[in-house]
Amino acid sequence: MDTEMRPCSSLSIFLLFFLFSSPNIQHCLATDSISLGQSVSGNRTIVSKGGNFELGFFTPGNSRNYYIGIWYKTIPGQTVFWVANRATPISNTSSAEFKISEDGKLVLLNGSKIPVWSSNSTPSTSESTVAVLLDTGNLVIRNGSNTTIWQSFDHPTDTWMPGGWLGVNKITGEYQSITSWENPDNPAPGLFAESMDPDGSNQFVLLWNGSEVYWSSGLWNGQYFTEVPTTAESTPFNFTFHDNNQRKYAMYTILDSSFITRCVIDSSGLLKQWYWLNSSQEWQTVFTQPVAQCDVYSLCGAFGICDQKSSNICRCSYGFEPASMKEWEFNVWNSGCVRKTSLRCSNKSSAGGEGDRFLEMTNMRLPASPQNLTVGSAEDCEQACLNNCSCNAYAYVSGCSIWTGDLRNLQRLYDGDSGAGTLHLRLAASDFPGSSSSHKFAIDLTLSVIGGVLVILCVLVGLIWTFRRRKQIRMARKIEGSLIQFTYGDLQRVTKNFSEKLGGGGFGSVFKGTLIDSSEVAVKKLEGLRQGEKQFRTEVSTLAAIQHVNLVRLRGFCSKGSERLLVYEYMSGGSLDSHLFQNNSTVLDWKMRYQIILGIARGLAYLHEKCRECIIHCDIKPDNILLDKDFCAKVADFGMAKLIGRDFSRVLTTMRGTIGYLAPEWISGLPITSKVDAYSFGMMLFELISGNRNTMHPEDGNKSFYPSWAAKRITEGDIFSLLDRRLNGAADIEELTRVCRVACWCIQDSEGHRPTMGQVVQILEGALEVSMPPLPTALQLLTGDHSQIGNQLPSTEYKDPLDQS
Ligand SMILES: *[C@@H]1O[C@H](CO)[C@@H](O)[C@H](O)[C@H]1NC(C)=O
Ligand SMILES: *[C@@H]1O[C@H](CO)[C@@H](O)[C@H](O)[C@H]1NC(C)=O
Ligand SMILES: *[C@@H]1O[C@H](CO)[C@@H](O)[C@H](O)[C@H]1NC(C)=O
Ligand SMILES: *[C@@H]1O[C@H](CO)[C@@H](O)[C@H](O)[C@H]1NC(C)=O
Ligand SMILES: *[C@@H]1O[C@H](CO)[C@@H](O)[C@H](O)[C@H]1NC(C)=O
Ligand SMILES: *[C@@H]1O[C@H](CO)[C@@H](O)[C@H](O)[C@H]1NC(C)=O
Ligand SMILES: *[C@@H]1O[C@H](CO)[C@@H](O)[C@H](O)[C@H]1NC(C)=O
Ligand SMILES: *[C@@H]1O[C@H](CO)[C@@H](O)[C@H](O)[C@H]1NC(C)=O
Ligand SMILES: *[C@@H]1O[C@H](CO)[C@@H](O)[C@H](O)[C@H]1NC(C)=O
Ligand SMILES: *[C@@H]1O[C@H](CO)[C@@H](O)[C@H](O)[C@H]1NC(C)=O
Ligand SMILES: *[C@@H]1O[C@H](CO)[C@@H](O)[C@H](O)[C@H]1NC(C)=O
Repeated sequence: MDTEMRPCSSLSIFLLFFLFSSPNIQHCLATDSISLGQSVSGNRTIVSKGGNFELGFFTPGNSRNYYIGIWYKTIPGQTVFWVANRATPISNTSSAEFKISEDGKLVLLNGSKIPVWSSNSTPSTSESTVAVLLDTGNLVIRNGSNTTIWQSFDHPTDTWMPGGWLGVNKITGEYQSITSWENPDNPAPGLFAESMDPDGSNQFVLLWNGSEVYWSSGLWNGQYFTEVPTTAESTPFNFTFHDNNQRKYAMYTILDSSFITRCVIDSSGLLKQWYWLNSSQEWQTVFTQPVAQCDVYSLCGAFGICDQKSSNICRCSYGFEPASMKEWEFNVWNSGCVRKTSLRCSNKSSAGGEGDRFLEMTNMRLPASPQNLTVGSAEDCEQACLNNCSCNAYAYVSGCSIWTGDLRNLQRLYDGDSGAGTLHLRLAASDFPGSSSSHKFAIDLTLSVIGGVLVILCVLVGLIWTFRRRKQIRMARKIEGSLIQFTYGDLQRVTKNFSEKLGGGGFGSVFKGTLIDSSEVAVKKLEGLRQGEKQFRTEVSTLAAIQHVNLVRLRGFCSKGSERLLVYEYMSGGSLDSHLFQNNSTVLDWKMRYQIILGIARGLAYLHEKCRECIIHCDIKPDNILLDKDFCAKVADFGMAKLIGRDFSRVLTTMRGTIGYLAPEWISGLPITSKVDAYSFGMMLFELISGNRNTMHPEDGNKSFYPSWAAKRITEGDIFSLLDRRLNGAADIEELTRVCRVACWCIQDSEGHRPTMGQVVQILEGALEVSMPPLPTALQLLTGDHSQIGNQLPSTEYKDPLDQS
């Protein structure tokens, strides 16, 4: 330390002597550490040795308070990830001091030299005790013998940094967790936290107010947390879990040191893994949990209603208003709502007016933990609630439930959501629609007219729905008639006791068979299906109804005990990957490739747009494209995601081998739409163009993932360099350009920028023009290829892929 300070001190003497300029002295003192006698105050900061991080006073957003914090020096906009005095702000930094005290602790003194924060570390009387800001973002105190006696990574605030740990100290029983800021202007501890499961299992949970668990990571299975795909391998993170005598904890590190990332629990209760996108200079999320924001416990606070489908996710119940408009404007809602008019019951002085009444709210998720009363009728239930001044709502479903105190977790539900019920919310009579004042009356009249129209509409929609549903059921029966139901014995005979295996995939093995009429079939033995027989039959009949020249047709099924088998038409041409990637097969010429591409696009467009229910394939790759004897392409394995169920983590686990085709939404936690298929289709186009797997490429010396290299060529207009060498340039330039551009549009980071499969068909058919695509960026980042991002900035301005220019 001494040697480091020397040039600096002599420089300051030099400056003092000649300039008498204090800001320059302060600048000169800037180092990576605070030793005894030095302090951080005013706008002075210290910077870590490599220049990555900076420590000093900061003021969040619109606040007037000051806090000691650490932020990224290299990133504009002061992203603070650690705060010392999060609950004890100071108002004036000029005479405040952040320093090493006589007993070797870090302390923050306010203007009156009163300590407002202390590291509470083991006392150390050594003169050479020093606090150092490391290049990992960790602030450590080292005592005279250079032993670390305290570190900020042991006291995280709302951010879990790479290299830091979360867990539990088995000796003291203390949990090391991260707790949200109260709101974006106030780092004081908020209501949400991520912590190791207080019940002792090996998983992380998100907690509201230290008690209510609203999300869990899934147990550590030895390799990753089962519900969190980003903790698995094949991501840029290395998650590890440790359990020893002293503590049980998890850590993560970054495999590529230029990847800047942090994990934060934000003030609206969401856990987010952010990474810094250097090319567009912004933070992006890789991962957000819970996926459905309404699953955050008490997201909208007391008497707030969560509506997953609305752009304003939280609103107040009728007759209520936000408790803190300021927080609601930040999109932090947990302060909740308060009554506009207090209940008559709880305001005795207004006795004589009208009594309280109940507002009927249909399609609501009912709040948890009601009190169940044994009364005979809905009227008695209502009366029971009226009789207790602290009762705020009742519901009469199979019995009478009442809720006293704050109502939390109210959620607007939609058709098809389970658990919907009708809640009767208690309101002051004067707040009630239809009360005396004439002004109110006019509004209420409008409301009731709208209400009436809505009711009529709902009835109509309901009728149509019932009618169509009936029709569907009837059709399903008929189709089941044309679908052959095999016995297990039949299929054993047909496949010669499953002797000729055609292939295996994530969902089970496929065997060749011959029916009595000597037509050939492919029999798939499904694995990992968890649904009952009845549901399986329903799904299978739906799949059998889907018939298109570019989709592999389902001919029959078998369901016996736990065995589930599907019988498909046999495709003598085999799968696309065998034609593209195997050396011994004949090379597909360009014309054939174009026909195959067009066929796949048509098949997918049919699945997405023409079926009664949109079917997302979720696993498009060359292995799932089959060719018939005339090389007509047919998409296989559609509807599997539906058969397996909506358990995305399972789908992900099943598809871990095919990570290169997966759209970023799968790991970011954004909703999955049919555009994930467009993404995988785009990835596959690169393989069709080059005749090589995206992961194995000679051209670029195997340094990067092929599509990021190819996308760059495309945006530069250099298209022929991408074409399979074996074709010797024999391709229609217009078709090749179209396919290349479509491929690049399909793998855009944001699903909104990708074309629909219907548009892809029109482009390939020549009915629509396609403009030059921008360079997709996240792809390059996630595949660890940074070499091209810096200089080749994408045009961030969005251009419609169908732009006629
Ligand atoms: C730091 O504060 C001093 C005086 O309070 C001021 O002159 C100087 O410009 C400030 N420096 C920065 C970088 O804000
Ligand atoms: C902070 O304190 C300094 C000196 O004690 C004083 O000159 C300055 O006006 C104060 N600033 C504020 C904003 O109160
Ligand atoms: C310092 O903190 C003490 C105790 O909280 C308080 O009484 C005093 O007013 C503070 N002084 C300043 C200048 O903020
Ligand atoms: C530094 O801390 C270590 C561990 O607590 C202790 O063994 C050592 O004596 C301390 N050194 C000094 C100079 O205080
Ligand atoms: C103190 O320890 C750190 C790492 O623990 C080491 O890098 C540094 O050189 C040591 N300093 C001295 C003076 O021993
Ligand atoms: C959180 O829990 C504490 C008791 O543990 C309670 O006093 C407090 O009211 C709760 N906060 C809210 C917002 O319910
Ligand atoms: C992940 O971290 C652990 C422990 O720090 C280490 O043993 C392992 O080699 C790391 N894995 C990778 C892929 O770097
Ligand atoms: C980020 O971009 C800046 C310039 O835009 C460059 O200086 C820096 O090296 C880049 N960092 C990484 C990690 O690529
Ligand atoms: C109670 O009712 C009276 C008369 O209606 C009103 O003036 C008063 O503000 C009410 N009190 C509360 C706490 O709402
Ligand atoms: C009240 O009834 C609901 C279902 O109607 C049940 O889930 C809940 O456990 C019951 N609560 C109590 C306290 O019995
Ligand atoms: C109202 O309900 C609360 C909560 O169950 C209970 O403590 C209170 O005694 C009840 N009041 C009356 C008047 O029944």
